[in-house]
Amino acid sequence: MDKAKTARIIGCGSYLPEKILDNKKLESMVETSDEWIVSRTGISERRMANAEEHTSTMGISAAKKAIAQAKIDPLDIDLIIVATCTPDYLFPSTGAIIQREVGAKNAAAFDLQAACTGYLFALSIAKGYIESGNYKNILIVASEKISSIVDYKDRNTCILFGDGASASVISDEGKGLEIRNVSLGTDGNHANLLILPGGGSRIPSTEESVKSKKHYLKMEGREVFKHAVRIMESAAKQCLGRVGVSEEEISWLVPHQANIRIITAIAKRFGLPIEKVYRTVHKYGNTSASGVAIALEELLQEKNVAKNDNILLVAFGSGLTWGASLLTQN
Ligand code: UT7
Repeated sequence: MDKAKTARIIGCGSYLPEKILDNKKLESMVETSDEWIVSRTGISERRMANAEEHTSTMGISAAKKAIAQAKIDPLDIDLIIVATCTPDYLFPSTGAIIQREVGAKNAAAFDLQAACTGYLFALSIAKGYIESGNYKNILIVASEKISSIVDYKDRNTCILFGDGASASVISDEGKGLEIRNVSLGTDGNHANLLILPGGGSRIPSTEESVKSKKHYLKMEGREVFKHAVRIMESAAKQCLGRVGVSEEEISWLVPHQANIRIITAIAKRFGLPIEKVYRTVHKYGNTSASGVAIALEELLQEKNVAKNDNILLVAFGSGLTWGASLLTQN
């Protein structure tokens, strides 16, 4: 009988644009203040892609780093999953562009849309494919050029978001972070709370759709906030329950980076000191699907993650969608 397969993250890499949009600059763009933004969100600055940086190019830079760290040949990649809600085009997929540029010509590639929870949805698919023996090496790329759909005249949203990408190589060989479980969920009853109304088949691009600002994301922030803490807490508990790991055994929590108040509330519910909660929200803001992946990559770079440490990822976003994953270093 074949040996049971175990899906592991064996390489990670991120890319953040150099250009910084800080709160001071936002003060000159909309009626807001550094004090309001920091106290309500914990965000001081975020990164902005320039005109030559796209979801694909940022993803390619991150992917090349992840492939180098995993020490695999791009020709050995079987599948590329790109988690994004800001693809370069509606089609072809951003996955196809990334496949070409990283030289993974044996890989199938597709885009996955689960908004800010995209990385966790991709992780779940990768785990399933690897453990079924279908594929040996999978590249996940979470990349977002959210600035392309943000209205920089809307103070309710423009202070929150930033651009960035992160990639992970998942394999059944090599050392890394074992993906013990991924628990996912969706509640379409709240699909209207965070939405990009235009540009799809329901509201195609017209002069009128542009004039009425249908191509900018709209969010009912206060409503989303209400759901966020409850959803992430229950997703995380479901995931821990499925692997039989207790809350006391969490070594690091890597939550979706949307708002420091949400992050602090989650940490409190798990009785975790804030030092055990990895945060990037102050410097990158909310980078949607890539947020959790960027934070995970930085955690691995900057902290001493030891053998058998348990890392809990948790995210939520438009849909509403949510997910949690328990990773164990081995
Ligand atoms: O990844 C997707 C998930 N998204 C999120 O996690 C976002 C979740 N929501 C949030 O993080 C928060 O709801 C926000 C940061 C978006 C807003 O914070 P809040 O504490 O919920 O503020 P609010 O929407 O209740 O607004 C309070 C006041 C309002 O004024 P009035 O009506 O009380 O006079 C807003 O108009 O603050 C005003 N306001 C601002 N003031 C200065 C809203 N945005 C700003 C701003 N600067 N940028």
